[in-house]
Amino acid sequence: MTRQVRLKSLAKVNLDLRVLNRRPDGYHELRTVFQTISLADTIDIAYEPARRTTLKLDDALDIPDNLVLRAARSVLDTLKIHATVQFRLRKNIPMGGGLGGGSSNAAAVLLALPVLAGRPLPFETLAYLGSSLGSDVPFFLTGGTALAIDRGTELYGLPDLKPECILLIASGIHVATPAAYSALNRANGLTSLDLSRKMNGFQAFVRALGELRSAGAASAAGSNDFEPVVFDQHPQLKKMWSGLRKYAAGARMTGSGSALFAVFGSKQERDAARKSLERERVFRDCRVIPAGTISGRRYRHLWRAQLAQHLAPETAATKDSWPPRSRYAR
Ligand code: C5P
Repeated sequence: MTRQVRLKSLAKVNLDLRVLNRRPDGYHELRTVFQTISLADTIDIAYEPARRTTLKLDDALDIPDNLVLRAARSVLDTLKIHATVQFRLRKNIPMGGGLGGGSSNAAAVLLALPVLAGRPLPFETLAYLGSSLGSDVPFFLTGGTALAIDRGTELYGLPDLKPECILLIASGIHVATPAAYSALNRANGLTSLDLSRKMNGFQAFVRALGELRSAGAASAAGSNDFEPVVFDQHPQLKKMWSGLRKYAAGARMTGSGSALFAVFGSKQERDAARKSLERERVFRDCRVIPAGTISGRRYRHLWRAQLAQHLAPETAATKDSWPPRSRYAR
């Protein structure tokens, strides 16, 4: 019997991002705060048990290392089962923008496939599979607002913030993450003073977020270490960033770029800013995307709702039993 589901796979922004030292394994130690937002891709999955595994992805990106297919294979291998799984992916999250689209798609498959197979996996297993697919994948297992350390894979849920309106600027400039880290290394001869400044700045941001419970209000204390190096490589982005800051003082780049975002106090303010900046020359070739923040509570609710019909009755009956929770969840 084929089991089918349609999933929304949400994007993220980094409300704050500090890059510390390069580690012996080549990754960088991070301090960041992730936030899920309403911008989403759609993934259709059709799952059927089979004697041999066949995975199909129906989109223009049907390449062997696509994260959706890699995530599916890792779930089937872990469960030691075979299946025919057909994916249809409709992309809405710009790629190479620091919005976590590919990572979110992978996490969506990690969450959904075990349920479709009737064999839900514990959080720790999903987090392990996720971190081997990409540094941002584990965050999308829980969503909401979360503090991350290590490669960005060790997560601590933060209290939900008030829901806020966001404007995203997607310029179409593709920043390759490894190249952005290399550029940062060349620019960054980190002294212990620099490191402690970064740590103090990050702590001040997290404190502001906790006190104000608003990504917009705390944004003035935020920072993204990739901004100077990426703006150096793409002066046009810096112009956009300056343009966006006229409307929202805490406008930021997300991840290693190139998408920019600003948080607004109200929908009216956000929509007025959108209207004005769409008339500005510097934003002429950009996608200007309105969105909203999505709290951890709403994220869990969304995931439960989109898989409700496939959850076992005993799991469906207990509100907190799925999606699986990290022991560090709020
Ligand atoms: O983990 P992910 O595959 O998303 O990382 C892509 C690249 O970004 C890595 O190969 C590495 O060059 C860089 N990276 C890093 N430190 C991190 C995360 C990513 O250096 N914490």
